[in-house]
Parts: sequence; C-alpha cells; structure tokens
Amino acid sequence: MQRIKKNLLQILLVFTILLFAVFAFSSSFGVNEKIKQAKDPYDNLMEPSIPLPVNTVKVLIPYQGGDFYTQTRKDQIERFQCTSCHNNKEVMVKNAAKISHADKKILHGGKSGPLDCNTCHSKENRDFLNTSKEKEIDMDHVYTLCGECHFRQKKDWIGGAHGKPVSHWAGERVVKNCTYCHDPHSPRFAKRWPATYSPPFK
Ligand code: HEC
Ligand code: HEC
Ligand code: HEC
Ligand code: HEC
Repeated sequence: MQRIKKNLLQILLVFTILLFAVFAFSSSFGVNEKIKQAKDPYDNLMEPSIPLPVNTVKVLIPYQGGDFYTQTRKDQIERFQCTSCHNNKEVMVKNAAKISHADKKILHGGKSGPLDCNTCHSKENRDFLNTSKEKEIDMDHVYTLCGECHFRQKKDWIGGAHGKPVSHWAGERVVKNCTYCHDPHSPRFAKRWPATYSPPFK
C-alpha cells in the first residue's frame, strides 16, 4: 500500500513539472508573446511560406510598397557573354554568317523606322545595354531601358498593373521582367484567334 502511494506521488510530481514546463514554454514562445516583443515590423518575422525563385535581382527603383524583385535575364540569353566574341580581337571563324546576327530584323520603333542596335546595346561593352545618356544598364535590369521610352508601362509594372507576379503580392514580391514576355527586337505580340469561342446567337 505504502509503495503504491509513493509511486502515485512520484507520477503526480512529474506531471506537475511537465505542466509547468508547458506553461512556461507557451508563454515565452507563443505567437502573441513574439508579436509583443517584436521590434521589427511583423512582416519581417515571417518565414516566407513559398520560397523565392532563385534567380532574382532587387529592382533598382524605389517603390512606396517596399523593395521588390524581378527575374534575371543574363542566364536566359544563349549568346551571353557577348564579349566572348565582341572583344576587338581578330578571330578566324568558319561559320561567320551563322554566328553573326546579320539576320536580326528589328520590328520595333513605329513610324520613324526601326530602332538602331546601339540605341539599346552599349557600343563599348556589348554585355550591357545603355540609356539615351550612354549609361550602362545590366541586362538583368532591362526594365530601366524599356522604361526610358515606355514610362507609362514601367510605372504600371512597378505598381503591379502591367506584367505578372511570380510570387508574393506584397513583401518579397517577385515580378516577371519585360523581356520575359516581349522580344525586345519585335515586342508586339502576333494577333491570334481565340482557341475556344461560343457559337453565334441565332
Ligand atoms: C559567337 C560570337 C558572338 C556572340 C556570342 C555575340 N555576337 Fe554579336 N556579332 C557577332 C558577329 C560575327 C557580328 C557581325 C560583326 C560585323 O558585322 O562586324 C555581330 C554583330 C552584332 C551587332 C551588330 C553591330 C556590330 O557590332 O557589328 C550587335 C548589336 C551585336 N552583335 C550584339 C551582340 C550582343 C548584345 C550579344 C550578347 C547577347 C552578342 N552580340 C553576342 C558575333 C557574336
Ligand atoms: C529596343 C532595344 C533593342 C534594340 C533596338 C536591339 N536590341 Fe538586341 N537586345 C535587347 C535586349 C533588351 C536584349 C536582352 C533580351 C533578354 O532579356 O532576353 C537583347 C538581346 C540581344 C541578343 C542576344 C539574344 C538574341 O536574341 O540572340 C543579340 C545577339 C542582340 N540583342 C543583337 C541585336 C542586334 C544585332 C540589334 C540591331 C540589329 C539589336 N540587338 C537591337 C534590346 C535591343
Ligand atoms: C528608344 C526608345 C525605345 C526603347 C528603349 C524601347 N522602345 Fe518599345 N517602342 C518604341 C517606339 C517608338 C515604339 C512604336 C510606338 C508606336 O508605334 O506607337 C515602340 C513599340 C513597342 C511596343 C508595341 C506597342 C504597340 O502599340 O503595339 C512594345 C510592346 C514595346 N515597344 C516594348 C518595349 C520593351 C519591352 C522594351 C525594352 C526591351 C522597349 N520597348 C524599349 C520605343 C522604344
Ligand atoms: C507577363 C507578361 C508581360 C510583362 C512582364 C510585360 N508586359 Fe508589356 N504587355 C504584355 C501584354 C499581354 C500586352 C498587350 C499586348 C496587346 O495588346 O497585344 C503588353 C503591352 C505592352 C505595350 C503596348 C502598349 C500597351 O499598353 O498595350 C508596351 C509598350 C509594353 N507592354 C511595355 C512593357 C514594358 C516596358 C514592360 C516592363 C517594364 C512590360 N511591358 C512587361 C505583357 C507583358
């Protein structure tokens, strides 16, 4: 009898210690407690539920909603690095016509005729694009180039009204870059018929 009582006491003791531990743990690590103790804005405490796409760069334009990101381009361009050929070194080539871009047709520019290669590509360093003031633009930040002439679309893109989000609507927002959708050499989309349609009313 004495023995059972002792065992019961022991079990009770362990149980109360456990209960205390649970209380202590929940009060110092609970979500509410975390929020109360926070010094940073709440957003920064959150682990992103969806991991960010890997190849992104921070957009270099200030935006009232905070920093946002866009997908990189250089890793998508087959001919990058341009300076592997455009380096002013004399070369002997077998298929010159094949590797040059003599076939590139520019369907971009409106009434005043097609834009010149050097309006967009830096003459000094083919790895870069350039602004009208000859400032070099990294190809990952191509939106800077497009926005020089298409400032309305750039403004809409910054706000999220033009283009497409890749992940997150706020916070660490990632959006698609201009040239993900538009070919810079022929940016207009081809007209096409809808894939499905309703039969006409009778
Ligand atoms: C495999 C070699 C090769 C690579 C890589 C390459 N180019 Fe070229 N590119 C050429 C050749 C060859 C010509 C024709 C040169 C000429 O006509 O004098 C040319 C011509 C051009 C021209 C026309 C004006 C000029 O300089 O004669 C532009 C603009 C141009 N390339 C841009 C680029 C850009 C931008 C890249 C990188 C995205 C690139 N190239 C990558 C080989 C290359
Ligand atoms: C409106 C600006 C613009 C003009 C004009 C332009 N480019 Fe480009 N070009 C770009 C941009 C931006 C890219 C990078 C595209 C991307 O992000 O995928 C590019 C990419 C390229 C590339 C690498 C990808 C590819 O398509 O092979 C080559 C080569 C190139 N340009 C050559 C030329 C040549 C040659 C001309 C002139 C005949 C020219 N570009 C005119 C903006 C321009
Ligand atoms: C130097 C100025 C300039 C730059 C830089 C430039 N564009 Fe253009 N773009 C024009 C002009 C001019 C037109 C023709 C406008 C028209 O016909 O009304 C045009 C037309 C367009 C169109 C078709 C518009 C329509 O009405 O159908 C698109 C899409 C476009 N550009 C996207 C881009 C993208 C994407 C970039 C960046 C890679 C870019 N542009 C860079 C000057 C520029
Ligand atoms: C997710 C794809 C996507 C992205 C990213 C994108 N656009 Fe567009 N853009 C479109 C579509 C779709 C249209 C409508 C084309 C049509 O009506 O034929 C368009 C139209 C345009 C036009 C024609 C005028 C208009 O408003 O209809 C311009 C100029 C233009 N875009 C520039 C840009 C620039 C500059 C960027 C980057 C800052 C950009 N776009 C990013 C898909 C995109």
